[in-house]
Amino acid sequence: MADKKLLQGKTVLITGASRGVGETLSCHLARHGAKLVLVSEKGDDLKQTQEKCQAEGAPDVDTHSCDLADPKAVQTLGEKLAGQGVDVAIMNAGVFVGGEDDPLKGNPDEWDRMFRINVAAPMRLMRLLAPGMKDKGEGCIVCISDVEAVHTGPRHAAYAASKSAYEASYQPFEWQAAPVLGRLSTLHLLLCKRAGNVAQTSMAEETGKQGGQGAIDPHDVSEAVLLAFRCSANCVPEEIVLKAARPQ
Ligand SMILES: NC(=O)c1ccc[n+]([C@@H]2O[C@H](COP(=O)([O-])OP(=O)(O)OC[C@H]3O[C@@H](n4cnc5c(N)ncnc54)[C@H](OP(=O)(O)O)[C@@H]3O)[C@@H](O)[C@H]2O)c1
Repeated sequence: MADKKLLQGKTVLITGASRGVGETLSCHLARHGAKLVLVSEKGDDLKQTQEKCQAEGAPDVDTHSCDLADPKAVQTLGEKLAGQGVDVAIMNAGVFVGGEDDPLKGNPDEWDRMFRINVAAPMRLMRLLAPGMKDKGEGCIVCISDVEAVHTGPRHAAYAASKSAYEASYQPFEWQAAPVLGRLSTLHLLLCKRAGNVAQTSMAEETGKQGGQGAIDPHDVSEAVLLAFRCSANCVPEEIVLKAARPQ
């Protein structure tokens, strides 16, 4: 049962909102009264998410089409959003590059782009949005990561490296922000416990990781994100690990 007051008055940024985890999450938070700022690269699917969120009762849904691989575009977006005030930033957009068996194969230029999207863009946005949260005395940044950040398997070297770097970038922020915000503001959400237990999204299809193994429903990811707002002001779930309960 949705509690419309849970996120009432909060402006929530969700990157990668056009599909997959981000789309489901956007609709979920719309049901809980959040004002939404949705970002993805392509506009068409994003407009569909916007319409779904409006139908779910979101009081306000703003959309921005932005290539997160483009530092200038990210800077412009971040400055604009900082001026509007963002209470919650959910850094969800991500790409997967490199499914080869040999981790050293693949195109390094694609790795560079992946690092710009998976690491540099959320860091830049955080840098621009965190001061506003500090001024308000509260805020929340949600890092949608991957277990491959900490449990790398025999493949996916470049992707795992990007997610490790992404998570590492949040640690200093936690140290800096905690005394100012009064509560730790960063929620690390690791989607899966073991490689192979992946959310059912287009990324999962692209990478072919599902392969008959258990998959996490993006609705469960959304519920995990909401835990940060259901806890008392004295507590924040710093790290959540989701894993599929059984193979499919
Ligand atoms: N699904 C999994 O198996 C799994 C497992 C663990 C962790 N994760 C993580 O969960 C997050 C969401 O994954 P997902 O499975 O929902 O992915 P997805 O279905 O492939 O969706 C990716 C989202 O990121 C956006 N995006 C990609 N490149 C972009 C760019 N250059 N600029 C702006 N937006 C861009 C896409 O927008 P466009 O539509 O415009 O391309 C889309 O909204 C990612 O960070 C991923 O690493 C996923």
